[in-house]
Amino acid sequence: MSADDFIVTPWHVEGDIDYDKLIKQFGTEKISSELLERIKGITGQDHFMLRRGIFFSHRELNIILDEYEKGNKFFLYTGRGPSGHTHIGHLVPWMFAKWLQEKFDVNMYFQLTDDEKFYSKPNLTLEDTKKFAYENALDFIALGFNPEKTKIIINTRNIQTLYPIAAQVAKKINFSNTKATFGFTNETNLGMIFYTSLQSAPCFIEDKPVLIPLGVDQDPHFRLTRDIAPKIGKQKPALIHNIMIPSLEGPGGKMSASDEKSTIYTTDSPAEVKKKINKHAFSGGQLDIEQHRKLGGNPDIDVSYQYLRIFFEPNDDKLKTIYEDYKSGKLLSGELKAILIEKINAFLAIHQENREKAKNQIDQFLFENK
Ligand code: TRP
Repeated sequence: MSADDFIVTPWHVEGDIDYDKLIKQFGTEKISSELLERIKGITGQDHFMLRRGIFFSHRELNIILDEYEKGNKFFLYTGRGPSGHTHIGHLVPWMFAKWLQEKFDVNMYFQLTDDEKFYSKPNLTLEDTKKFAYENALDFIALGFNPEKTKIIINTRNIQTLYPIAAQVAKKINFSNTKATFGFTNETNLGMIFYTSLQSAPCFIEDKPVLIPLGVDQDPHFRLTRDIAPKIGKQKPALIHNIMIPSLEGPGGKMSASDEKSTIYTTDSPAEVKKKINKHAFSGGQLDIEQHRKLGGNPDIDVSYQYLRIFFEPNDDKLKTIYEDYKSGKLLSGELKAILIEKINAFLAIHQENREKAKNQIDQFLFENK
């Protein structure tokens, strides 16, 4: 793989992603300024993740809005593969989904794919992934979703509901389609080959259009879902994609839940957060203070700055000052890290409290098979 190459699939992300190229490769649409204005017009608000291009691409979001304006509501759907504890990067599409739910007042489904991670991770047992599904559900609930309108689907628990829908889907996807989409080989296990049908199933759980906020690495599943939807008499799901959240150790790849060092978990203590960021957060600063004052840092590759931009500093003016001060050399790497540490710890203090409360709320959120 050469320096400007990158790979984005649901199970493997590598390299420095060029998002304009990815839009072309995947055949999605860039979120235009007109579309941004339109969302702002409807919701009355301009979410920073949209404004800053954290959500950068879509498929047929305009159709969802057309229908909405005619009075036809959609529902939201997203999910998580429970391969480990939740890290802060996972929260990005969930928080955005929460905003969408509030603004559009719509139902939301959250799928936890304990089966998928059992199939795709050689070292995880089904008991492990079920345990992580529960842990991840707590983080999801902690964000403040409305239990009346939000249901959590756990694949092994809700298979009775999912299976008849998955069967419809599976019948229309053939092996050469999945193989071409995911690069499967003769060694790929059967669970993986069938899996797209299960991730597709929640798209059709209500007889309404669906909008899916998701990491762009998940797009290939729904490309297949969209292809087959008309063949089973259903509407194609609409998507809105976020960029991959960089790992602490730098650009090129998403934050992986399996690499302890490069990940901040929602359950980390303030001391752990501080240590991880100071020790591992990739810096765009110069090698010593003297050089940094003279030449300034590069916020565009600095992970601490990126985390502020993506998530932790919604205020544009404050973010701009940090950008400029870092670039001019006025703000040192250690000082930038200190800003981020404080922001993350303030967020986690509240999140961890809500996460405790979520233990008593989980039953209200679990989808019950009919
Ligand atoms: N496969 C996803 C993951 O590994 C989990 C998932 C299930 C999902 N359904 C989804 C993600 C819908 C986005 C949208 O994380």
